[in-house]
Amino acid sequence: MHKVIFDTDPGVDDAMALLFLHHHPDIDLIGITSVFGNASIETTTRNALFLKQAWNIDAPVAKGANETYNPNRPHVDWPAFIHGDDGLGNIGVPETVDIPCDSRPAHRFIIEMVRANPGEVTIVAVGRMTNLAIALREDPEIASLVKAVVIMGGAFDRPGNITPAAEANIHGDPEAADVVMTAPWPVTVIGLDVTVQTVMTRSLLADIVAAGGPRARLLSDISQFYIDFYENHVKDGMVVHDSCACVYVVAPELFRTRSGPIRVICGGIADGQTIQKPDSQIFPPNDWDNLPSQQVCIAVDPKGVLDLIAGTL
Ligand code: BDR
Ligand code: CA
Repeated sequence: MHKVIFDTDPGVDDAMALLFLHHHPDIDLIGITSVFGNASIETTTRNALFLKQAWNIDAPVAKGANETYNPNRPHVDWPAFIHGDDGLGNIGVPETVDIPCDSRPAHRFIIEMVRANPGEVTIVAVGRMTNLAIALREDPEIASLVKAVVIMGGAFDRPGNITPAAEANIHGDPEAADVVMTAPWPVTVIGLDVTVQTVMTRSLLADIVAAGGPRARLLSDISQFYIDFYENHVKDGMVVHDSCACVYVVAPELFRTRSGPIRVICGGIADGQTIQKPDSQIFPPNDWDNLPSQQVCIAVDPKGVLDLIAGTL
């Protein structure tokens, strides 16, 4: 059983990933931490509570960061054209949801859950890395107590999706991402290199709804705005970025990874770019030598991933 904290900015593909975590029999979802990204922190937190209530999810929601790790970084606008003004496809989520958040801020929640379950917690982070970076700043020892960190973010051997250099989750807070990728904990990064290959068609979504009842119906309603956006770009369906990171936790055999330290460019025209130095490549001594080696996904079995998502939902 994998004890998972889901750090998320719901977000349409975040919502699907949350439902996957909730339903998968090998996952014990012990907490949901919100972060700004696909919408403001107020909206993503409200959405996390809304989904928790709608899907009857036990895990507490802890509200996360409102601004970037480096307070001097200028604000980046929300991608309302992808996820809708309400972050969930403009389905008309109520302004407020009548259940409370956990009393702790997200970074404190992460620290306390990791300390209470040493060696057991997997953090799946599918938004800005801000909460994780603050948790590391406040309690660096948690790096040695976490079982694994699985991230949806970055673009290593291809262009980004928000600039030619950067993927959105990393571009939204590059300093935080650099802290998280260079910390001495085991990180696996599932970036655009593999996520853009996992495209859920309307017909597969319809099959999930047909078999999955009201929960799947809500997911389908939420997804329509996002699928319209992706069909203008990908043509035949929606990219399920965040679910890929969740699938990796239970089925890593569906992915191939490359090991080596990772850095994030902070500033300039390549702001938010992710770079890995493959361990297999030899260079003269340099600043990368003492960084921890992390895993970057470089190949995926898209059908295997989509089958597992559909079967679980
Ligand atoms: C990432 O950005 C967000 O729009 C998605 O939820 C996903 O986490 C993809 O670049
Ligand atoms: Ca996300």
